[in-house]
Amino acid sequence: MRNLGPTGTGADTQGGSELLRDLQLALSKPPHAISPKYFYDAQGSRLFDRICDLPEYYPTRTEWGILSEHAAEIAEVTGPGTELIEFGAGSLSKVRLLLNDMRPRRYLPVDISVDHLHRAAASLRAEFPWLEVAPVAGDYTGSIDLPPVAWGARRIGFFPGSTIGNFTPSEALEFLRRAAQMLRGGGLLIGADLLKDPSVLDAAYNDAKGVTADFNKNLLARANRELGADFELSEWWHSAFFNPAHSRVEMHLISRRDQRVHLGGITFEVAEGFSLHTENSYKFSIEGLRGLAAIAGFRPHTVWTDDRKLFSVHWLIAP
Ligand SMILES: C[S@@+](CC[C@H](N)C(=O)[O-])C[C@H]1O[C@@H](n2cnc3c(N)ncnc32)[C@H](O)[C@@H]1O
Repeated sequence: MRNLGPTGTGADTQGGSELLRDLQLALSKPPHAISPKYFYDAQGSRLFDRICDLPEYYPTRTEWGILSEHAAEIAEVTGPGTELIEFGAGSLSKVRLLLNDMRPRRYLPVDISVDHLHRAAASLRAEFPWLEVAPVAGDYTGSIDLPPVAWGARRIGFFPGSTIGNFTPSEALEFLRRAAQMLRGGGLLIGADLLKDPSVLDAAYNDAKGVTADFNKNLLARANRELGADFELSEWWHSAFFNPAHSRVEMHLISRRDQRVHLGGITFEVAEGFSLHTENSYKFSIEGLRGLAAIAGFRPHTVWTDDRKLFSVHWLIAP
C-alpha cells in the first residue's frame, strides 16, 4: 500500500471521525486491521439480522435454543430484583426469551448502532409494556455512561452472540475485568461459540447468498456514505477462513486489482491482493472461557450447551 498523501480534494469533511482515523490508519500501516465495531451502522445492523436467519449461520439458532430451553433455570440462578444490561444488544431478539422468567426491574440495552437500537427498544416496549427499557448509546470497549443502578437492584450483564469472540484474548480479559467490577453483587450471562469442525465454520462465514460478504463490505460502503470515500465495492472480495493457530475465524477484504482510493483527502494506492483485516471471531473451549472469566474476577457457575456442543452459555457470578 502506498499512501500518496493528502490530495486536497474533499479534505477533512469528517476530520473528527473515529472511523476516518482508524480506516486511514488501517490502509496505511501493518497489520492493516480495523475494529469490527465499524460494520454496525443501521445498514450493518440490518445485514447482521439477515446473517442470523441464514441456514449456515448456526450460532444464533443454537444459542436461541439454549436460552429458550433453560430460561426458567437462568432466571433461578440470576435471581429476583435485577437490572439487566445487555452489551451489543442489536435487535434485542434474544432477551425476549428471558424476560418473562427473569422479570428484571429495568432493562438497559447498550449498542453503538444508535438508530437501530432506538427502533428495537420501541418495539420491545410495545411487546413488554410492564418493562422499563432504557437504551444506552455507547461503545463497550470504553467506559459506558450508565444511569445509577435502580434502588436495591442487582446488575446482571447479558452478552450473547459470542460477541466476546470479536475481542483479542487480552481485550476479552480487559472487557471481562471491567464487567466484573460493574456487575459486582450480580453476574454475567455470556454466550460463547465453541471450537468445532472447520468446515462448519467455513460454511457459516461464507454463506451461499453472500450476505456475510455484503456485511463485510458494509465497512467500505459506510465509508463511501459517511466519509465521501470512493471504494469500488465490486473490486474487493470477501475472505473468511479458520485460523487454527489462533482458534479464530478471520474476515478480510481483499483488493481484486491495483486501485486508487480517496478517503478524507488522502489518496491510497492499493495493490492487487492487499488484505484489510476486518474481524476476528475467536472460538472457545468451555474450560478456556471459564478460565478467562475466573482470571477477570468472576466465579464461573452453570454452563449450558446444545446436544452437538456447538455453542455455550455461561453464568458467571461477580462476587
Ligand atoms: C454480533 S452482533 C450481536 C447482536 C446480538 N447481541 C445477538 O446476539 O444477536 C454485535 C452487536 O454489538 C454491537 N456492537 C459492536 N461493537 C460494539 C461496541 N464497541 N460497543 C457497543 N456495541 C457494539 C453491534 O452494533 C451489534 O448490535
